[in-house]
Amino acid sequence: MKPPPILETEHLRLRAPDLEDAEEVFATYARDPEVTRYLSFRPHQHVAQSRDFLRRCVANWAAEGPYTWLITRREDDRLLGVIDARPQGHRVELGYALGREHWGRGIMTEAVRAVIAWALGQPEIHRVWAVCDVDNGASARVLEKAGMEREGRLRGWSFHPNVSALPRDSWCYARVKETA
Ligand SMILES: CC(C)(COP(=O)(O)OP(=O)(O)OC[C@H]1O[C@@H](n2cnc3c(N)ncnc32)[C@H](O)[C@@H]1OP(=O)(O)O)[C@@H](O)C(=O)NCCC(=O)NCCS
Repeated sequence: MKPPPILETEHLRLRAPDLEDAEEVFATYARDPEVTRYLSFRPHQHVAQSRDFLRRCVANWAAEGPYTWLITRREDDRLLGVIDARPQGHRVELGYALGREHWGRGIMTEAVRAVIAWALGQPEIHRVWAVCDVDNGASARVLEKAGMEREGRLRGWSFHPNVSALPRDSWCYARVKETA
């Protein structure tokens, strides 16, 4: 089950990355400590780290995932952020990040809705889910606006090295296809 390399929404084009995107990935979000605060990696110090990330993304598209799209603005192809889908049997897990200057305009909600719509449109996918740090209010709100339900608090679930050396609690959100 491989997703399409391009997903389009009203304002956005989600597209599979290539190595030439490294400078923009680095400049837009990967080096920003505010963006990476509740993510599992430390801010990139050099564009070579962003290129390594993209190399893994390209390899993963040729394999079993996770499948990473760059989020670009349809009108001018400007890179805004990133979103990925991690297939796990009948489940798909989502992850995402957006350049700080683009926060608060509904961009990620639009991108998340598009990936959920694609995923739940697949007969074999029944559950789309995501976790976010319990202190990441903006991310929790995105998942709620995209129609996910908060299922509970996962204790010590996520390692977010930029805020703590210990694993942190996360909210678990999901949208499940009606089956019965
Ligand atoms: C989380 C993130 C992707 C949100 O993207 P975005 O495009 O700004 O999100 P949207 O504009 O679609 O929606 C944000 C919502 O959160 C709300 N919000 C913002 N900061 C908030 C906070 N601290 N607490 C609660 N809600 C908050 C906004 O008001 C908005 O809700 P509203 O439309 O009801 O007003 C972006 O902030 C980001 O990239 N953060 C860093 C990376 C990250 O944390 N990724 C998620 C890891 S789980």
